[in-house]
Formats: sequence, structure tokens, C-alpha cells
Amino acid sequence: MQDELKKLLEEARAAIPAIASMEEADSVRVRYLGKKSKLTEILRSMGKLSHEEKKSLGQAANQAREEIETLLNDKMKDIKVKMMDDKLNRERVDITEPGRRTVIGTPHIITITLEEISDVFRSMGYSVVEGSEVDTVYYNFDALNAPKAHPSRDMTDTFYFSEDVLLRTQTSPMQVRIMENTTPPIKAVVPGRCFRCDAPDATHSPMFHQVEGIVVDEGITMADLKGTLATFAKLMFGPDTKIKFRPHHFPFTEPSGEVDVSCFKCGGKGCSMCKGSGWIEILGCGMIHPNVLKAGGIDPEKYSGFAFGMGAERIALLKHEIDDIRLLYENDMRFINQFK
Ligand code: DAH
Repeated sequence: MQDELKKLLEEARAAIPAIASMEEADSVRVRYLGKKSKLTEILRSMGKLSHEEKKSLGQAANQAREEIETLLNDKMKDIKVKMMDDKLNRERVDITEPGRRTVIGTPHIITITLEEISDVFRSMGYSVVEGSEVDTVYYNFDALNAPKAHPSRDMTDTFYFSEDVLLRTQTSPMQVRIMENTTPPIKAVVPGRCFRCDAPDATHSPMFHQVEGIVVDEGITMADLKGTLATFAKLMFGPDTKIKFRPHHFPFTEPSGEVDVSCFKCGGKGCSMCKGSGWIEILGCGMIHPNVLKAGGIDPEKYSGFAFGMGAERIALLKHEIDDIRLLYENDMRFINQFK
């Protein structure tokens, strides 16, 4: 049996250096040290031997097992190191390679425009507030003094969720919500999305953006409104911009007006942009109607205020000489990436 043991050990000594993977190492371990291995068989059959023989064979078998275990463990360590080296080689990063440029998106032209408008008013001390795109008929119409028969309330002009709930058609409902929650002085602008049942064409979109403005305090007059909008026009369209008021009607303001700015392309001489008139309409405005102040919980005997509202799309289209509003929403990257 000593001979068998020797043979076994020699076999193992020859087999172990040839091992190339952890799987092979495992099967070699099973073959030489496992329950069904020759070594286990030899140890099991030792019962029949004399005491002396048992002692010497036992010693030899244990030595053989230890040697095989050591050889195997060393081999496995080598394999692990080699595997790690291979992996590091395979995954080596060439730090001298030029990097791949990360493509970062740009804000949409409407976002940029809303920010520009908000920034101008921020610089004049206004807070910028956002409101809910879903609002009630009360805030969108009734509280704004819009009579029950006003055409904008029609089912075909407005998106209704129910009789009382709708997608706001203007940012004006925020006037009343702000007044309800603030004691004057109030100075705020509200940029946001609005919705109307309009079929899309070059100048209409069922979803669009407005910026509302509201100022309420003691002694606010039309002169404050004019001064504010004149400053806004200069900061937004250039220092030489002039403004002009035209009388108009809005239910929530009295008196009401529309404001034109001198054409920022031709400077007022008349060109294709201003259709030869030298003026471009940009917003609606007026002194807040006493009924609207009352709806906002503000005493019209003590306070007065002005409000204005402008379309962000219209301003973006004019400023960047874009001739079709639909381009803003078509997600054509060639168009969108032009504005940074
Ligand atoms: N909400 C009006 C619209 O959508 C715009 C407007 C006009 C807002 C006059 C105002 C205002 O605050 O005073 O046409």
C-alpha cells in the first residue's frame, strides 16, 4: 500500500502543475483528496493492518495529503493571481485616449424666454410664482369678472374636466389666488402653461405659455403701469424700445389696454416683421377691476393695482424671427439646438 501511496503522490505531483483553471483544480482535489479518492480508500482499508503498519502508513498518508493540499492551494493562488492579471489587462483604460464628449441638452427656447421675462421682473423686485395648470371655472372666469356669457367660457373654446374644473385658459386666475394669500404690497409674475381649444396653425397652439404680472398696493396708478412696462420693454427688447398703449377691453381690468413696442428689427421705420407699422403688439394690461380685488379679499377703497399678461410664444417667435409656432413643439433637434 505504501507503493500505491507513492504512485498516487507522484501522479498528483505531475497533475497539479498542469492545472489551468479553478474548475480543473476542483476536480483534481476531488480526484486525489475526495471521499472516493484512492487516498481515502487506503486510509479506510488500514483497519486490517497491524499497529506498526497502521502507524507508518497513516503517517505517510497524512504527509501525502498535506503535500497535495499545499500544492493545490499554491496552484489555486497562482491561478487567482493570473485571473486578476488577465482581467486587469483586458479592462485596462487608456487614459491617454481622447474623452468622449457628453451631450448635454439645452433649455427649450420657451423655457429660455420665460426665464428672460421672469429675470427682468425679478430685477424690479417681483417674486416669481407658479400656479396650477388645472383650475376651477371660478378662478379662471368668475373671480376675474368674466360674465357668464363670455365667449371664452364656451365648451368649444376651453378644455373642461367637469362643469367646474378646467385647464386654465390664461395665467390670470393666479391674480386672485395670490391676492387671497398675500396682504399688499403685492408684486409678482406668474410664468406658466395655458390651454385653449385652438386648432394648431402658424400662430396658434392648443397649449401655450403666458407670463402674468400683478401689482397691488395703496396708491398704484396707471403711471406705475406705464413706467413698469416701459422699463420691461427696454430691458427685454433693447434700450431704444418705445411703448404705446391702445385702449382695449378685458373683463378683469378697467381701464384696459394693449401695449405695442416699437419694432426691434427696424426700430419703428416699418418692415416685414411689424407689417410696415413700426409697432408690435406684445401684451394686454390694465388697472385691476374693483370686482377682482374684492374676489381676492382686498378692499378696493384702500388698495389699487395693475395687471398684465403676455404670450411667451409670441415674444419668442418675434425675438428670434421664427415664422411658425409649431416649430416650437415638433422636437426637431436641428431647430431646438439653435437656442442656447
Ligand atoms: N389673460 C389675458 C389673455 O389671455 C391677458 C391679460 C390681459 C392679462 C390684461 C392681464 C391683463 O393681466 O390685465 O388674453
